[in-house]
Amino acid sequence: MAGDERGPLRIGVLASGTGTNLQALLDSVHGDEALIVGLATDRADAPALQRARAAGVQTGVFVLGEHADRPARDTAIAGWMAERGAELIVLAGYMALLTSPLLRHFEGAVVNVHPSLLPAFPGVRAIEQALDYGVKVIGVTVHFVEDDGGVDTGPVILQRAIELAGADDADEVHELLRPVEHELLPEAVRLIARGAVTRDPRNPRRMIIRA
Ligand code: GRF
Repeated sequence: MAGDERGPLRIGVLASGTGTNLQALLDSVHGDEALIVGLATDRADAPALQRARAAGVQTGVFVLGEHADRPARDTAIAGWMAERGAELIVLAGYMALLTSPLLRHFEGAVVNVHPSLLPAFPGVRAIEQALDYGVKVIGVTVHFVEDDGGVDTGPVILQRAIELAGADDADEVHELLRPVEHELLPEAVRLIARGAVTRDPRNPRRMIIRA
């Protein structure tokens, strides 16, 4: 997936919430190595929608109740993204689990940002899980999402750790992690756009990053 040969890599973003990771993408790679061609959300009230509209990015709302089931909703999202020529789907705080129709359509081309050092603390409330466990080091993972039936189980692209340094409140820790997310997710998109991320043929779980 080398965006530089054909112009910027066309990315579709999925977000459910405040959209600070979307904003980080808009402020860094958008219009440069990548072009955000659409923002899709599962929540009609997601503040991420305003961020996309303010940047002139097309938006789509895919509320579950308006579709027969989750695979039907994901089929609609995949079609909407495909119409816009999306080559990579970025999950930027998308809180619904993706199903096969979308993951197969964009096989090997879906990435997620997660607020833990995977494989520790996958799924929801990752920061609370880490605090409950009593860890001293936390961090952020950007990984591919595969149609493997798991949650946050796809191959790791980038990870960065930070010391907890006594922080014990989930909101406080989230604030420590946000700047890390806002750097790591655009960096992963940049690397993918440059074709710098490849799979180790000897170990398909291991992503090789070319500097
Ligand atoms: C981020 O912390 C992300 O890691 C998690 O959901 C949060 C989304 O934040 N999956 P935002 O909507 O990008 O501000």
